[in-house]
Amino acid sequence: MRNKLVVGNWKMHGSRPANAELLAGILAARPYAAEVAVCVPFPYLGETAAALAASDIRWGAQDCSAHEQGAYTGEVSAAMLAEWGCRYAIVGHSERRAYHAEGDALVADKARAALANGLTPIVCVGETLAERDAGRTEEVVARQLAAAIDKLGERVAEIVVAYEPVWAIGTGRTATPAQAQQVHRLLRAQLRAASGLGDRVRILYGGSVKPDNAAELFGQPDIDGGLIGGASLKAADFVAICRAAG
Ligand code: PGA
Repeated sequence: MRNKLVVGNWKMHGSRPANAELLAGILAARPYAAEVAVCVPFPYLGETAAALAASDIRWGAQDCSAHEQGAYTGEVSAAMLAEWGCRYAIVGHSERRAYHAEGDALVADKARAALANGLTPIVCVGETLAERDAGRTEEVVARQLAAAIDKLGERVAEIVVAYEPVWAIGTGRTATPAQAQQVHRLLRAQLRAASGLGDRVRILYGGSVKPDNAAELFGQPDIDGGLIGGASLKAADFVAICRAAG
């Protein structure tokens, strides 16, 4: 049985006072039946860790380097994230694939670096609108997941996957629960084929999840929670989404 997971992806939003208020709002609404986490910008990890350490809310980062250490100006290693108590690191978000030219192989290397340092990578996959319109959704997400499977082998059972159709991110246009479930089912089959423990992997849906559509999405058999962008910045909305998962 997979317990549901809801992860807030703050992206490049926040400020120290706004974060304190947001985290206080999330803490005040405990307990949650689902596991809840926030992935915050790097400079806020210390304060986030301090705010959440005594709770069961987890935290993480939105990226990590594929390298262990070295002359990689601007990069942050998975070991550094582990020092700040991170549980999760998002890797391969479509914004990083699009704006930072991250390819499947690099994303898989980042996932491996995260695992090697005790973090759980949240590996993002998803097709663009052009790819969906061309009937290439299955091929694209299968290729993206296959890169992680090839690199991680049996350890793929330890990751979290996030299916985020690029056309649904920040657009207010959500995949229907049936559309999302169809892709999740394929990803599940691919994970099962790759690992005897593939059934354990949580597959999150992301892309314009809001309080009013979360319950139906999370009710699908292969949707194990959500990766939440815009709606994770308002405590009331994020709390409502977390409740919808549990
Ligand atoms: P959104 O973003 O909820 O704002 O669509 C989701 C994501 O990019 O993780």
